[in-house]
Amino acid sequence: MSLNGINFEWKPKRLDFDTKIKPFESEDTDLNNFLKNDAKNYLKQRLAVTYLIENDVETIAYFCLSNDIVLRLFSDKEGWKKIKKSIPNAKLRSIYPAIKIGRLAVATDYAGNGFGKLILQIVREMYSSETQPSGCRFVTVDAYQNAVHFYQKHKFEFLTSDDENEKTRLMYYDLQAIQ
Ligand SMILES: CC(C)(COP(=O)(O)OP(=O)(O)OC[C@H]1O[C@@H](n2cnc3c(N)ncnc32)[C@H](O)[C@@H]1OP(=O)(O)O)[C@@H](O)C(=O)NCCC(=O)NCCS
Repeated sequence: MSLNGINFEWKPKRLDFDTKIKPFESEDTDLNNFLKNDAKNYLKQRLAVTYLIENDVETIAYFCLSNDIVLRLFSDKEGWKKIKKSIPNAKLRSIYPAIKIGRLAVATDYAGNGFGKLILQIVREMYSSETQPSGCRFVTVDAYQNAVHFYQKHKFEFLTSDDENEKTRLMYYDLQAIQ
């Protein structure tokens, strides 16, 4: 597969205990260290599954997925109004199933070539209503402030404005939007 002339393995590789992790350098040291030192521990503790996008020699990007919930308690009035609008009355709840993108990083050398966008597409496809292994309505992310615009561009919304000045902002995407 090729994106902007960059070749890579099309199918994201699910990290396993014996996976040899290829070098990875993004602009975020925490995200680099997580992949190197902690991703397998998260797998072992069943806290997150990591997926790798690679070429022959290096890791181009990675992301982690964990089960999550969208909870009325975590939203403000405006945020919940938007959620309610998209759900039929008979199915209104104060809690909905979700999948969380725990971490998402593109290597500095490959940034701006569409890999972030591709990962969001991959997650949407993994949880499309034809293939999802359990009910899942939303994709959530605790977005770094510098990535908020990236997620907004891809139709993620805020659940609350209470976290406006926090290091990360809770955002969600409604998977029903792709029906
Ligand atoms: C944020 C990040 C994931 C984006 O990935 P990327 O591969 O560089 O982004 P893409 O090339 O797929 O960009 C897709 C679109 O989003 C836009 N975009 C990318 N980063 C953006 C940003 N920070 N703000 C606004 N728009 C952004 C691009 O212009 C592009 O728009 P287009 O489709 O109209 O051309 C990547 O820059 C990264 O890993 N950053 C460091 C780690 C990080 O902040 N991760 C997020 C953790 S929550």
